[in-house]
Amino acid sequence: MNNSDLIKSAVIARQKSYSPYSGFSVGAALLCADGTVITGCNIENSAFSPTVCAERTAFFKAVSDGKRDFVKIAVVGGKSELEIPDYHCPPCGVCRQVMKEFCKPDFEIIMAKTPDDYKSMKLSELLPASFDKREV
Ligand code: THU
Repeated sequence: MNNSDLIKSAVIARQKSYSPYSGFSVGAALLCADGTVITGCNIENSAFSPTVCAERTAFFKAVSDGKRDFVKIAVVGGKSELEIPDYHCPPCGVCRQVMKEFCKPDFEIIMAKTPDDYKSMKLSELLPASFDKREV
């Protein structure tokens, strides 16, 4: 699957965002090695800390469906009142660590405003010198 099609799935997932507290809506689309695409959105909570990011929603849906092999993820996030985000939203540090658990260093993270306007980085660039107890 090409990057633009994966971003289109993230844009649609973003429409499901439940983000009444921050007003910041995020969608993610995770491409699995078997070709399936698992989407996620951010889901907030009035107690704040139970909030989960779009990327982790996608990862946890995928892992709980038995997927363990991942190729790339597209992320689209920005202020809810703007249809098109005003920046290329990067994944937070917690989501990067979750990616680290399941993905190789060359896992691709596509940060998009639109299907044609995106930046792409590898997990090893976004999370260098990361903790992994399996490597100790
Ligand atoms: N958020 C994500 O869903 N992904 C990120 O990578 C950054 C932040 C969400 C969490 C919260 O609901 C809102 O964006 C504002 O931080």
